[in-house]
Amino acid sequence: MKKQQAGILSIDVGGSHLKADVLDEKGKSAAERVRVPTPKPCPPDVLVKLVTEMVSGLPPFDRISIGFPGVICRGKVMTAANLGNEVWVGYPLERALSQALGGHPAKLINDADMQGFGLIKGKGLEFVVTLGTGMGTGLFLDGELMPHMELAHHPLKKGKTYEQLLGNVAYQDAGKKKWNKRLHLALRTINVLLSPDHIYLGGGNADYVDPDGLPENVSIGDNKAGIVGGAALWRNEPKARAPAATKKAAKKTSRKR
Ligand code: BGC
Repeated sequence: MKKQQAGILSIDVGGSHLKADVLDEKGKSAAERVRVPTPKPCPPDVLVKLVTEMVSGLPPFDRISIGFPGVICRGKVMTAANLGNEVWVGYPLERALSQALGGHPAKLINDADMQGFGLIKGKGLEFVVTLGTGMGTGLFLDGELMPHMELAHHPLKKGKTYEQLLGNVAYQDAGKKKWNKRLHLALRTINVLLSPDHIYLGGGNADYVDPDGLPENVSIGDNKAGIVGGAALWRNEPKARAPAATKKAAKKTSRKR
């Protein structure tokens, strides 16, 4: 029987749900994606335990990608506005999940950045806005991530931040019409700030976006991109080298022919 190729475990840590799936190199799903509500509260030990349980039924994997809702620096969480800065700041989540999930290599990045990898075309200056519990942003130049682009906690209007005006609490409070008006203001502001070639909208609340009157360079993406983007993190990895002995043997065989 042909051995099953191990895939990439992609984990999307969201403010409302944790999602995971095993993907092939191109981001194609190898199984049914698993999704559970994010516990409240959700400190590091609770998250690591729950992720370990939820992925136990998924197909084999040998690499791990994690999208986390905060600023990430060298495998550690630097901010976690919606999960609690007190318990998360400084936590080495990349190492913790790698160890908990069989010692496979892991890559931890911001959730909007990971979603961006699933949405962008890799040409020019592309900007990603995710609309969910929080508001995430990611910036890419010719497919390369410019990390730590965080607009969420900057003021947008009357001293209120992008996230205070466009996060899920704001959507519930303000209603669809007002929220869409604010979104249009945010997109116009982002266009003035960065002049991106394209802006992609993602996240669960992108379903509520009224496409009427959106700036021309804006499109609405698929929410599955949050998980699919995890495959891109391993795309440019150098292939494992053949051991020296095997190489010599291969040369000999080819000379004989
Ligand atoms: C965080 C971002 C995150 C966004 C979406 C914000 O509160 O600061 O890092 O990308 O929520 O989850």
